[in-house]
Amino acid sequence: MSQTDAEARSIGEAVELLRRGEVVAFPTETVYGLGADARQARAVREVFAIKGRPATNPLICHVADMESARRYATSWPEEARRLAMRFWPGALTIVLPKHPAIVAEATAGLETVGLRVPDHPLALALLRAFDGPVAAPSANPSNRISPTTAEHVRQQLGERVKLILDGGACRVGLESTVLDLSGERPRLLRPGGISREQIEAEIGPIEWSVKGDADGPQRSPGQMPVHYAPLTPTYRFEHDLREQVLAQAQSHDAVVLLSPAEETPGTEAAVHWMSDDPGRYAQQLYAMLMKLDRLGPHAIYIEMPPDQPRWLAVRDRLMRAGRDWQRR
Ligand code: TXA
Ligand code: MG
Repeated sequence: MSQTDAEARSIGEAVELLRRGEVVAFPTETVYGLGADARQARAVREVFAIKGRPATNPLICHVADMESARRYATSWPEEARRLAMRFWPGALTIVLPKHPAIVAEATAGLETVGLRVPDHPLALALLRAFDGPVAAPSANPSNRISPTTAEHVRQQLGERVKLILDGGACRVGLESTVLDLSGERPRLLRPGGISREQIEAEIGPIEWSVKGDADGPQRSPGQMPVHYAPLTPTYRFEHDLREQVLAQAQSHDAVVLLSPAEETPGTEAAVHWMSDDPGRYAQQLYAMLMKLDRLGPHAIYIEMPPDQPRWLAVRDRLMRAGRDWQRR
């Protein structure tokens, strides 16, 4: 392991804080997490308090490797083994029946637990040294933009977090895929860093209830309609409405986020181009939203990328980042 002395020291400090039941922010390859020992109820409650997160929304438990993950699930189906072998460390959270060592607070009283081995050297060093499950949601106030740099954590949570491990900008930039393996059939609860196609290539067809079936039981609160949202009024629109939106944006001194980059529109509005590569787009999305929010425009208008499987996770987040422009 190539760790600097400074890194080793801050990891030591983070482990000490976690053991004492305190909260620590740390980088993962997806977004920054706000972590606590998943075996200490008081510590986990502090995470909910700092985020202002509803107690009904369960946290993901992070562990160092597959062996540790198995310790905190009471069953370990063949699909879990295959997916863990293939995608861990990585942006996939697997929901399985929960071991009693994980406190009920961490899983919002559910009998299941979401487990993930993050693919980030600092996170892995922390989890190995701590040698226990770290319950961690994204390190942002509830419903706001997930942080992809240590600075974003500081801006959003600041004083409330004693220690923020700085691992630079997150490589994936969107949260992990959440897959429920606790039921009859594998079920996608949240699209994310690992695509549905990648999962299906390993274990065959999986189910997905599109756009958080509002009437059904709330399986995964990441499916709620407004989440990942800037403070600025934000609207999304499909590509074919570009001209109309630009005409309005112009008269409102607004910021428009277009994607993927194509012809340059003639407009006075501040236009920011996003990448036409879904991975690159994902990596930059939250940082861009944070930046636009701080610029303080009247509104942010976001053009949706094409409705294609490779854009699934990005479109999912954009659906929740703002309202439909046509229904404004
Ligand atoms: O990439 C990520 O997943 C990041 C990093 C820090 O690992 N974490 C993250 O956590 O996005 P959070 O709390 O913002 O989102 C966790 C999602 C929520 O939608 C939650 O409802 C779902 O995972 N989840 C967690 N445990 C679950 C469970 N037992 N059953 C169903 N859904 C669960
Ligand atoms: Mg979150």
